[in-house]
Amino acid sequence: MHTHEQLGRGWQYTVYDMGNGRVLKRANTRSVAYMRMVRDFLWTAPWRICSMSHYFNKAREEAMTSMSVLDAHAISRAWLAFPVREGEMDYTQDKVSPLRTIFPRLSQQEGEGLIDRFVQFNRALIQFSYVDRTFQITENYGLDKDGNIVLMDLGEIAATPEAIARAIADRPWALVSTAHLLPPAFRAYFIRQMDEAFLPSALLV
Ligand SMILES: Nc1ncnc2c1ncn2[C@@H]1O[C@H](COP(=O)(O)OP(=O)(O)O)[C@@H](O)[C@H]1O
Ligand SMILES: [Mg+2]
Repeated sequence: MHTHEQLGRGWQYTVYDMGNGRVLKRANTRSVAYMRMVRDFLWTAPWRICSMSHYFNKAREEAMTSMSVLDAHAISRAWLAFPVREGEMDYTQDKVSPLRTIFPRLSQQEGEGLIDRFVQFNRALIQFSYVDRTFQITENYGLDKDGNIVLMDLGEIAATPEAIARAIADRPWALVSTAHLLPPAFRAYFIRQMDEAFLPSALLV
């Protein structure tokens, strides 16, 4: 795969363009994951570098659990950019445009419209009990070839009512590490819309 362009990297996966409209997502080795974590921690919480081993173990375990959840789940594959498993952790998927690359091009009104669609998409995911517990709008979601929002990151899935309620109660969308990846003009709107849409349901559990 080394001849293929690297499209992205998170804590769990490195993503390669397969050149045929699909991407290959390979689980990170420990050392690669550490490099990626340092990049996040340096500007948010440098003391967390001490706990990287713990984070790596947790992230790997969660990715494996999430892959088993995917196998058993009836959620529409179109909403997940048509993932296909390749072994225990790796998978291929349709190549999409990460929302990180979309937001900077949008007017205020267009950006708020995309945030509204993100809220609706997550409402639908919650109805099917399959959500990205981080709600990391810029990094984990993209637009497919028809312009629909899809979930790219299938490694941090909450799939029970309890896990979903816990994920919502944490308000991960308000974290600097998530909200501040949006252009400044959209941050407050994003946090407010997410609070209004999802916090009441967290209070019911
Ligand atoms: N299907 C895809 N099409 C295009 N880019 C992708 C795709 N999946 C992931 N990426 C890129 O790779 C990055 C890491 O992928 P992600 O699934 O979020 O991995 P992790 O679980 O490690 O966070 C994404 O933020 C995005 O930039
Ligand atoms: Mg991710």
